[in-house]
Amino acid sequence: MFYFCSNIQGKVVMDFSIKIKDYSQVVVGDVTELLPRLLPDKRVVVISDTNIDRYYHPLLESFDHILIGLGESSKTLMTADTIYRRFIELGVDRSTFILGIGGGIVTDITGFVASTFMRGVEFGFVSTSLLGQVDASVGGKNGVNVDGYKNMVGVFRQPRFVICDVNMLRTLPKREFRTGLAEIIKSAIIADKQLFEMLESADFSTLQQNTELLQQMVFRAISVKASIVERDECEAGDRRLLNLGHTLAHAIEKSSSKMNHGEAVAVGLSMICNTASSQGIFAENDRVQSLLTNSGFTLEPPVGVSQLMKAISKDKKAEGDDIHIVLPLNIGKCTVEKMPIVEFKALFSAK
Ligand SMILES: NC(=O)c1ccc[n+]([C@@H]2O[C@H](COP(=O)([O-])OP(=O)(O)OC[C@H]3O[C@@H](n4cnc5c(N)ncnc54)[C@H](O)[C@@H]3O)[C@@H](O)[C@H]2O)c1
Repeated sequence: MFYFCSNIQGKVVMDFSIKIKDYSQVVVGDVTELLPRLLPDKRVVVISDTNIDRYYHPLLESFDHILIGLGESSKTLMTADTIYRRFIELGVDRSTFILGIGGGIVTDITGFVASTFMRGVEFGFVSTSLLGQVDASVGGKNGVNVDGYKNMVGVFRQPRFVICDVNMLRTLPKREFRTGLAEIIKSAIIADKQLFEMLESADFSTLQQNTELLQQMVFRAISVKASIVERDECEAGDRRLLNLGHTLAHAIEKSSSKMNHGEAVAVGLSMICNTASSQGIFAENDRVQSLLTNSGFTLEPPVGVSQLMKAISKDKKAEGDDIHIVLPLNIGKCTVEKMPIVEFKALFSAK
């Protein structure tokens, strides 16, 4: 992990850069300066979506580009098939570089099609949503949904680079911005006390426009994920830490369409921290609840606890009758425990 300064046309540019698995470079900085520097000397084909084309057409227009539709219903094998066919029409081969420019939907599908077309073509991302920058684009998981089941088919494969330009977040709808905030708060609780303190003193009404502070927060959140992925790329151990609050969040998303992913993660974080506090293992619960509330989240689940517990039995990450649960110990330190699903449910049903 390092910071580097470069002198581009007489201007000193500071980037925050992290290497993952000695291959993938994640850089927080200005896209117009970084992209020419990081793109290999190859033909480039871009995958993006219609929103990004609307806001950032000049970034796409110099490349052959393929636009996909919006939302989870576009992250499918059918879209992948359409992209493969366009690749064939465009003469994409193993010497082509595929660049995904967009949020998590675009980067997930770009990584998937690039990893599978001709058994693998090199790819990279310009990540444009806050959730994409701190989570979806980093770590090498690429996949599509099948029959409404999220990320059912996919591959682990690292992008050559990920560019995160926080100035692009200014055009992101406010609700989408907040979705990413939930993942930053999660990263801080998992492994970065200082990031948590930065969040506690942040002015959330201006954060989306605060380039300097956002760069630091995005970089720190990426660093948490990158160092975990470095130790455990394929989720056999420590990578499970990244699921803090997510078992409950997935149950909320399955049971109700009222909350988006980040809103559900905020409720999941609140519930698991409350539980750890009542178990006597987490003394800093009040700070978590205050931060989640101050950053604009509703902490009441949209459905009853018994309905959530039913959905948990079907959690994709359950192993037989057991489930891995991430529990906070301190802000900046969590632990993963394997426990029977019935025991996990009892923690909540008792309330
Ligand atoms: N691969 C992983 O490890 C991983 C991790 C977390 C989430 N994900 C996936 O990420 C996806 C969600 O990603 P997301 O929250 O970025 O959703 P998204 O890609 O749908 O983006 C949200 C919306 O914002 C728009 N948008 C994106 N950037 C913009 C910008 N700069 N300006 C204006 N509009 C912009 C998009 O067009 C879209 O309408 C889910 O499918 C989830 O499964 C993957």
